[in-house]
Amino acid sequence: MRPKIKNICCIGAGYVGGPTMAVIADQCPELEVEVVDLNEERIKKWNSENFNNLPIYEPGLAEIVQRCRGINLHFSNLVSEKIKNADMIFISVNTPTKNKGLGAGKASDLKWVEECARQVANHSQGHTIVVEKSTLPVRTAEAIKSILKFSLDAGLENKTFDVLSNPEFLSEGSAVEDLMNPDRVLIGGEAESAIDSLSEIYSNWVPKSKILRTNIWSSELAKLTANAFLAQRISSINSISALCEATGADVREVSRAIGSDSRIGSKFLDSGPGFGGSCFKKDILNLVYLSEYFGLPEVAEFWEAVVKLNYWHQDRISQLVVEKLFGTVSGKKISILGFAFKANTNDTRESASIKICKDLLEEGANLSIHDPKVDSDQIAKDLKIKEKKSLIGKKVIPKNNQEGNWSFSNEIYDSINNADAVLVLTEWKDYTEIDWELVSKIMRKPAWIFDARSIIAPSKIIKTGLNLWRIGDGLN
Ligand code: NAD
Ligand code: UGA
Repeated sequence: MRPKIKNICCIGAGYVGGPTMAVIADQCPELEVEVVDLNEERIKKWNSENFNNLPIYEPGLAEIVQRCRGINLHFSNLVSEKIKNADMIFISVNTPTKNKGLGAGKASDLKWVEECARQVANHSQGHTIVVEKSTLPVRTAEAIKSILKFSLDAGLENKTFDVLSNPEFLSEGSAVEDLMNPDRVLIGGEAESAIDSLSEIYSNWVPKSKILRTNIWSSELAKLTANAFLAQRISSINSISALCEATGADVREVSRAIGSDSRIGSKFLDSGPGFGGSCFKKDILNLVYLSEYFGLPEVAEFWEAVVKLNYWHQDRISQLVVEKLFGTVSGKKISILGFAFKANTNDTRESASIKICKDLLEEGANLSIHDPKVDSDQIAKDLKIKEKKSLIGKKVIPKNNQEGNWSFSNEIYDSINNADAVLVLTEWKDYTEIDWELVSKIMRKPAWIFDARSIIAPSKIIKTGLNLWRIGDGLN
């Protein structure tokens, strides 16, 4: 008989666990949803009285949390207690790339997932459906099952488990919209009754035709493959942007031309500063590791090239900034607009801005960094260099070999004031509304605008006398 689900527990209150559970609680008022995490600070923020202080910024999320929190959505550090009461447990913890030991630099580090499986084995009661929500290497369910089975072999009374794979496809910045209207929900597993139980939850708001059922290994592999294909498109178009700049073509025109082919499709063809985010790189490297592990070096090499191209592309951007500024940025002020890895998120993980800023700092530049959602502490952590307090408003005197430093700016025009160059790295809407006439009056001449996101209309810059470089523009 299909187990009726009443209590859900999600382990991991991060970018996936938080929004996903908020939407489930909102759409399924009959369910009790408990989100647990070891991180006390994060849970405190999820419980903030001020809904602007939630740990994750996503359009529409605060409103949902406000509607459900304290009613059927709860955030706490009570991991074992909430596992005990749950009929269904989502594992939504981090799965970063291993940084040491076997597979270091490529394989996923599954220690957090393994820890969850042990916690579930120890504390669950009765029948529990364990759902892999984290992105995992193919065949991880086997490891989870064997940890759970071990608890049964050890005679831990009256427990039974089903394990499902239900990877998440949301994108940051549009998490709520993606969760509300997913292209598909993927559920992989063996036990039909468990699949039915999870499918029933989603069918509260997702049309049944969009709920796909597969075997568990296909589901795990489909998630890695989806990210690999998406990232591959970005590396492809970024490689073409370099060719456009060399030949006089325009990458926007090329994207439009190829995107009109219905077999190719128009999405994910925007050339930018290189893909960031916590997942693309780690998931492709995971695919590379798996391919090597299963004796398929050619497959591994094929996918590794996507990540290599991305590194090369980020280097290319910092190098060309230096070249345009007469071969040196030492002591020059560069305004960096955008630190998040994309717009509408405060997440900076693997953001192209990190690498590009580090390269420019190494060249001795003084960076004034602005981002509407990322704070100065996060930037300091990412750059691993303490912020040197504001140079803003002071004239920057270039000195050769001066050590680069950076400051945070709350205000776009402060960041740009007296700068030699502006480098747009995130496509925030605020940056599309900049008054370039005004900018031309407050920059040090000759001044350069580098638009790595194609968000500025060239016509607005040309009449100001500022120099403009745009990604993939053969007329640069
Ligand atoms: P995250 O780092 O934001 O959150 C993970 C949380 O899990 C952390 O708060 C951590 O403290 C907690 N945690 C770790 N071990 C724990 C344990 N044993 N008990 C309780 N809490 C524990 O990660 P995320 O971005 O939410 O990603 C989670 C998974 O989802 C990853 O596998 C990722 O690849 C995948 N994913 C992420 C996204 C995304 O947009 N971020 C989208 C789809 C899939
Ligand atoms: C990506 C996938 O889109 C999600 O489906 C997946 O669930 C998620 O990874 C994950 O597994 O973590 P996300 O990383 O949040 O989502 O953001 P994307 O919109 O995919 O953007 C990733 C990077 O590619 C960003 O740096 C973005 O600026 C860049 N990008 C995207 C481009 O440079 N050009 C594009 O045309 C699209």
